[in-house]
Amino acid sequence: MSPSLILHGGAGAQDPTLRDVRLQGLRRAFDAAWTILQHGGAALDAAVRAVVELENEPVFNAGVGSCLTEDGDVEMDASVMEGTTFRVGAVGAVRTVRNPVLLAKALLETERHVFLVGDGADRFARTQGFPVAMREELRTERQLQRWRVAQTKGEPGTVGAVALDKTGHLAAATSTGGIFNKQSGRIGDSPIIGAGTYADDTLGASSATGQGEAIIRTMLTRTAV
Ligand code: GLY
Repeated sequence: MSPSLILHGGAGAQDPTLRDVRLQGLRRAFDAAWTILQHGGAALDAAVRAVVELENEPVFNAGVGSCLTEDGDVEMDASVMEGTTFRVGAVGAVRTVRNPVLLAKALLETERHVFLVGDGADRFARTQGFPVAMREELRTERQLQRWRVAQTKGEPGTVGAVALDKTGHLAAATSTGGIFNKQSGRIGDSPIIGAGTYADDTLGASSATGQGEAIIRTMLTRTAV
């Protein structure tokens, strides 16, 4: 089977001056994940690799560069799902991990729980050997500036990937800093399986971007698939 790969870098209002950097980031993420698929790698590994690249690129609202809560903190959400066995992993309101999608994948692999939030998710990261990412490392000057002027316009610029590997298996991965100026503790659609992320080998796979509250109400990715 021919592999396939689709990425998104978020649906929010974007600064037009960052368009080229964002496109380059998407191309880099695509190339990294595509290489995995071309070499016979798994859809899950490809989807996660793409999202890691996007989390590492500060112009996207995920990982480094996540938008800030009303308290000026970073609280990130991510999830992964593979469509063969329906294994899933999701983390919410994570504060000290550079790549929340990797933490979601670690949770998927442990197969004990499927969704961890807040301090529990950060503690799980330590048990899995994830280094502590300091707030200063995740909070970019651009996001801090937006927070300082207290704009209230939402920017749900989530990132996501959907991959089909050579064996016909599907996977989806999604990661986000949430929406700008959100209340501390608010969790959006991205870590909620069926809302922000869904994969089923027999039907399709999907990663959502947009206002999480609306996406949760419609369980958008599962409905779409
Ligand atoms: N779709 C991202 C969020 O609402 O958190």
